[in-house]
Amino acid sequence: MTSTSPTLSVHFLITAGPTREALDPVRFLSNRSSGKMGYALAEAALAAGHQVTLVSGPVALPRPATATFLPVESAQQMWDTVRQVVTTQPIAIAIHCAAVADYRPRFAAAQKIKKNADTLTLELEKTPDILGSMRHVFGFSGILVGFAAETENLVANAQSKLQRKGCDLIIANDVSRTDIGFDSSDNEVLLCHADGYTEPLPKMTKHALAESIVQKCAHLRPS
Ligand code: CTP
Repeated sequence: MTSTSPTLSVHFLITAGPTREALDPVRFLSNRSSGKMGYALAEAALAAGHQVTLVSGPVALPRPATATFLPVESAQQMWDTVRQVVTTQPIAIAIHCAAVADYRPRFAAAQKIKKNADTLTLELEKTPDILGSMRHVFGFSGILVGFAAETENLVANAQSKLQRKGCDLIIANDVSRTDIGFDSSDNEVLLCHADGYTEPLPKMTKHALAESIVQKCAHLRPS
């Protein structure tokens, strides 16, 4: 028989969904993230008795009723909102599940871009790295969990991301597979721990995976 030790209720910060980076007042750059994994994590943490602040990009999902819900659009807004939460709330565990845009248009046009030219070149600039700011910019000292969406060299890329961003855990998934990940209800991930230990989890629903991740996070100690 296995016994599970009781877990104290703690405050989770979860980021979810895509971000939108404006090109002009009616157009944006974004990605295929549905937000399902992040919302499943929020529901699982709430069901386990934890407090949850959910910072979410635009998604077509019902907001978890008892979470503190902070909607955002752009990567910059998500960065500002996460900084505000992390520096004012006693967050114990932060899970960064959002598919944050890595680049945004350098200049967003004030008016709708007209179809005058045959070609149009966009200049893009990097967005701020929210997960990568947690330790060194925001001074976060709790459990830090990131996701790694990869199409090749899953373990090596995930381990390097874990070290670069100061995480305790990286949840790595292969986004080249069409049966899992983006917009699917299922996911199959590899957990990469800070001590180099990797733990493959079988394919399961995002809800089952969320329960498992929340349980594991609640038992982690900050590195
Ligand atoms: N992330 C973030 N802010 C960004 C980009 C990513 O907080 N501007 C977070 C994601 O929420 C995720 C982790 O960083 O938890 C890794 O995201 P991923 O897209 O896999 O990696 P990148 O850092 O964007 O690097 P690359 O795209 O080169 O793999």
